[in-house]
Order: sequence, then C-alpha cells, then structure tokens
Amino acid sequence: MPNAMITGWGKCVPPSVLTNDDLSTFMPTSDEWIFPRTGIKQRHISHVPCSELATVAAKRALAAAGKTGDDIDMIILATCTPDTLIPNIAATVQAEIGATCPAFDINAACSGFLYGVSMATGQIQNGQCKNVLVIGAERLSFIIDWSRRETAVLFGDGAGAAVIEATDTDAGVQAYAMNNDPSGREILKASFGTNMDRFDTEAFNFHLQFDGREIFKRAIAGMGGLSQQVLAKTNTPLEDVDLVIPHQANERIIDTLIGKMKIPAEKAFKNIANYGNTSAATIPIAICDALEQGRIKPGCTLLSCAFGAGLTSAAALIKW
Ligand code: ACO
Repeated sequence: MPNAMITGWGKCVPPSVLTNDDLSTFMPTSDEWIFPRTGIKQRHISHVPCSELATVAAKRALAAAGKTGDDIDMIILATCTPDTLIPNIAATVQAEIGATCPAFDINAACSGFLYGVSMATGQIQNGQCKNVLVIGAERLSFIIDWSRRETAVLFGDGAGAAVIEATDTDAGVQAYAMNNDPSGREILKASFGTNMDRFDTEAFNFHLQFDGREIFKRAIAGMGGLSQQVLAKTNTPLEDVDLVIPHQANERIIDTLIGKMKIPAEKAFKNIANYGNTSAATIPIAICDALEQGRIKPGCTLLSCAFGAGLTSAAALIKW
C-alpha cells in the first residue's frame, strides 16, 4: 500500500491587513483587550472571493510539487465561506488549474483541511488516486458581523493548499483520525439571519455566533483526544514528535493543549498573531510558514490537530 506524502504546498494571504489598533478606530476594542486573550495582533482581509484565494494557493502548491493540473486526480476544498453554495468552488479552482478530475467542497469548519488530508490519504492508499490537491480556504470577513466586537476581532481570511502524492517511501501520513460531536453543534454556528423561509429573499444575512468559554474547553478535549489516538495507532511516543501544528483559534487554547499533553512549549507552532483564526486555512498556512522558517525538516515528525463547528475534530501524524 502506498503512503500519502505532502510534496507541494502554497498559501495565499490577501495583502490588506487590519491590525488591532485599526479595529479600535471603528469598534470599542483595543490591542490591550485582544492580544492577551487571543494572541492575535492582526488579520488579513480579502477583497476577492474565497475561490481566488484558493486558486492562488493551489497554483503555488502545484508549482512547489512540480505538477500541473493534468497530474491531479482529485480536488478537495475545505471551506465554510464558499463564494457560491452551488457549484462548489473546487470547480472554480479546477477550471483555473486545468484539471480533469472529481472536485468537491467539504464543510468541516476549522477541521476541514485535516478532514481533506485524511480523505486524500484514503484515496491514495486504496489506489484510486496518485495526486490529490487539498485546499483550506476562507473568506470569513464576509460572514462577520462587524458591529459585534466579541466575534469580529478573532477571524481573518486566507488559503493554504497541499499536493498529496503517492510515495513508496515510509514518509507521509502515518495515521489520521476524525470525529464529530453533534451535542455541541449549537455552540458555534453561522446561521442565516432569518428563519430560512423558502420565499424569504433576505435570508442571506449571516451571523456568526459562539460560546467562547465552552469552545475553549471542548477544543482542548477534542484536539487532545484525537492527537492521542493518532499517536497510539502508530505506537509513537510523544518524545518522537518534533513539531505540533494545532488549529490557530486562540493562543491560550494552544498553550493549554500543549501543557496538558506535556509537550515542550517550543514544539508548538503558532502564527495566529499574524492571521487571526482563518478556520480551514490555519493549518495549511501554518505548514507553509513552518517550512519557510525551517521548522519542518526532512525526517521530522509532525502532529497536527484541529477543532471546529460541528463540533468537528481531526488529527494527523505526518512524517516528513
Ligand atoms: N474588545 C473589548 N472588550 C470585549 C471584546 C473586545 N473585542 N469582546 C468582548 N469584550 C468584553 C465583553 O463585553 C465582556 O465585558 P463585560 O465583562 O463588561 O460584560 C468582557 O470583555 C469579557 O467577555 P468574555 O466573552 O467573557 O471574554 P472571555 O474572557 O471569555 O474571552 C474569548 C473571549 C477570547 C473569545 C474566549 O472565550 C476564547 O478564547 N474562546 C475560545 C476561542 C473561540 O471561541 N474562537 C471562536 C472560533 S472557534 C474555533 O475556531 C474552533
């Protein structure tokens, strides 16, 4: 059975930056409130649709892998902020890169990229695909209610992509795990503003709502539990993990998770200060940044875990 290895990666973060100080000019907030509670200093805001961010990230990932659209056997695009409900926006990326293959979006919120990596790994291991393009892309600024400071300060826009390729080496995705806990589906949601009456033309008034404290607790349990699962599946002792890339929702969640798992703090990768929470895009963007910074090296073992609305959670253990 072949292994599934990330051989190309790319990110796209829009050039417009909104700092905490910028936010304080139009809502009652401050860097003094935001930074100590979240670790966020700034976020990027997109003026183009999610599919454009996804396409740029995808083209960069293809270039890094030395592939073209022709080589891709499947496109999985994780997002909860697509430009259109139908068609899926994986189809837009597909048209832009000139691929001829199945293409679809998945909505597993912040766990979406790792859900995609897991599905891609399955397709490669069972011989259905040789190269799968997995993308996490979000334009969360589009669904944010900018009059609500408690949510508006937390999120940002961006995209990251990975080419996952069949390999005969022992590198690649060693194990993955996915879960969903519907008992918490109400604590994090972006519902339509009205009652979804089928004749209501004003239905597209999104409103992102969440219970931050409850999410905090469940995020630690969800990411910690699935991380332990992938370590156990592969008999990997914690000491063998070189780098942990958790979902970047809040720096305090990351610190608490790492502390509870007894992982040395320097092994946790954090870039939330620059981007805020970009949902399905946090992990592929973090993978790109970690590679650029030399924190992922050949032979290193990476543990990644995520948590999001659903309540979804996912983890993957990847040998580089
Ligand atoms: N600026 C200034 N004051 C604010 C802001 C703001 N942006 N937002 C809220 N406040 C005020 C509140 O009005 C409240 O004031 P009051 O005491 O006078 O009523 C006070 O600050 C405390 O508000 P809380 O909501 O209780 O703040 P808390 O300490 O719980 O921190 C936070 C909020 C940072 C969101 C925290 O709950 C958290 O870290 N949650 C987990 C992360 C999260 O929920 N992310 C959302 C996406 S989830 C995901 O990606 C999986």
